[in-house]
Amino acid sequence: MCGIVGYIGDKPAVDILIDGLQRLEYRGYDSAGVAIVNGGLSVEKKQGKVKGLSDTINRAELQGTLGIGHTRWATHGRPNDVNAHPHTNSTGKFAIVHNGIIENFTALKEKLITKGYSFESETDTEVLAHLIDDIQKNTMLPIEEAVRQALTQVVGTYGLAMVSADDPDTLIAARKGSPLIIGVGENEYFLGSDAAPLIEHTRQVVYLNDGEMAVITRGGYQVKSIDNVPLEKEVHELEWDLEQIEKHGYEHFMFKEIMEQPESLENCMRGRISIQDNDVHLGGLIDSLDTLLAADRIIICACGTSWHAALVGEYLIEGLARIPVEVEYASEFRYRNPILREGDVVIVISQSGETADTLAAVHEAKRQGVPVYGVCNVVGSTIARETDAGVYLHAGPEIGVASTKAFSAQVMVLTLIALKLAKGRTLSEAEFATYLNAVVEIPDKIREVLLLDEEIQGLARVYRYASNFLYLGRGFNFPVALEGALKLKEISYIHAEGYPAAEMKHGPIALIDRFMPVVFLAMKDSTYSKVLANIEEVAARQGSAIAITDNGMEIERLCEYVIKIPRTEEFLTPLLAVVPLQLMSYHIAVMRGCNVDQPRNLAKSVTVE
Ligand code: F6R
Repeated sequence: MCGIVGYIGDKPAVDILIDGLQRLEYRGYDSAGVAIVNGGLSVEKKQGKVKGLSDTINRAELQGTLGIGHTRWATHGRPNDVNAHPHTNSTGKFAIVHNGIIENFTALKEKLITKGYSFESETDTEVLAHLIDDIQKNTMLPIEEAVRQALTQVVGTYGLAMVSADDPDTLIAARKGSPLIIGVGENEYFLGSDAAPLIEHTRQVVYLNDGEMAVITRGGYQVKSIDNVPLEKEVHELEWDLEQIEKHGYEHFMFKEIMEQPESLENCMRGRISIQDNDVHLGGLIDSLDTLLAADRIIICACGTSWHAALVGEYLIEGLARIPVEVEYASEFRYRNPILREGDVVIVISQSGETADTLAAVHEAKRQGVPVYGVCNVVGSTIARETDAGVYLHAGPEIGVASTKAFSAQVMVLTLIALKLAKGRTLSEAEFATYLNAVVEIPDKIREVLLLDEEIQGLARVYRYASNFLYLGRGFNFPVALEGALKLKEISYIHAEGYPAAEMKHGPIALIDRFMPVVFLAMKDSTYSKVLANIEEVAARQGSAIAITDNGMEIERLCEYVIKIPRTEEFLTPLLAVVPLQLMSYHIAVMRGCNVDQPRNLAKSVTVE
């Protein structure tokens, strides 16, 4: 949440910063701003999207080769021009951009007010600017030392960047709980809250860890701990390239990412499935396999869509490998003092690898001495680095705020883990081979589902004005019902609920009338006849039943719309069934005029609690 970008080098900073902010906009779009050191310090900031800022700034006044920028997802203070970052000290000498929450900002603010400081904004970040100013004024310390001392007084989280008119050759960055990456170029350095703004300039990056501060000058960078101990940092190579973060003619990233799923799943499976050896190879878990096989219990923690993938994982690992699994919201797990025992293994799932609650679940597992493995998409992300081992999704960058291709890749990775754990234990070689062949066919089957796009657009046209939706599924497709409902509500703002189909009779059935579309996931599996009975119940109450099914005839009699998807093994059906739901949400949202890539109030990567 909130995007940070910084530049120091020999090129004009302003366009690098604005381009960087545009690439980072999925992290927040409440306001945007830049500060440039140009003899003095010039700050331009504005409520709304980066484009608004870009269209109005006076570039002639922003000539300078050192600067910082910010795109905001509001926590403290409404989205407006005043609360937009960067924030300055009272003399306007230095500027700060910040991601995170300063929890003791009220106490710090009161102290500063008694010292005569006045505040323009409602933000916690402005407190930092005045605090650094106060320390520097009283101690005459160099700016980086004043920042370091200020940070020792702060309770909370921060990823911050700072520039000062008095230090035209220095960019300062510090991290605790909010990611920051330094991009290393030729005689120039970049800063980003993730890799997106860096990719077009350099692939060489340095990841800052929590409790680290960087002083970046035109000649190099030095990283120290907040306790002032110099640190040697490894330079890493970024995996993603510019190609992957462009829209390539698609109107929206979300649609592009839905359409990319056959390829993203092929990338996710590449090198991991050997039909010849009848085996699955998960390099990242090779040394952890025995621990997983011996586990008494696997606890999977995640948030949002990743939590839905985790639920599918529960059905997969329990169903195929017969190892008990529990799925937890990371946000609950971290605070309810969970009981972990020897024999427990924690798996965390996170597309971004930066979700604050999921990271806290990693810390809780580590605190209790339990092995913790990660399933992440972003290579080098904090969760990927802090877990004991893990598997990357290799789904490529996901820019659309609503997660689509990451969900299918998460389910694919969990499928491969489940099969690996089941091989030779609960599955015979022949059964395993049948299942593996079915997995390999999934990308082509998704290609077939994607051909239904026009049909799904038609469906979207019919239901675009509905105010409520129900999504019902059973077994492997109960989590898909939850995911379908989440996709619809987050991008089209239509209220939607997902339920296990059989739960309908325990309450939600009261909602059903002719204005209530009910989407059924009705696969020809062990629960098919039961779901069919549920559809009958909806039809009897004049609800509009829509079915996603791999079956025919009888369901058509009962439903207003039937979307037919290809057959596959029962445990693989979520990978196919979710696609029509993603498409339906997308088209409904577009038809309602919603900004699907930047839905209101949301941001990709929830790095605050
Ligand atoms: C929904 C969505 C969110 C994320 C959640 C976890 O479309 O994108 O619900 O799934 O914020 O994010 P990650 O997977 O990055 O930990």
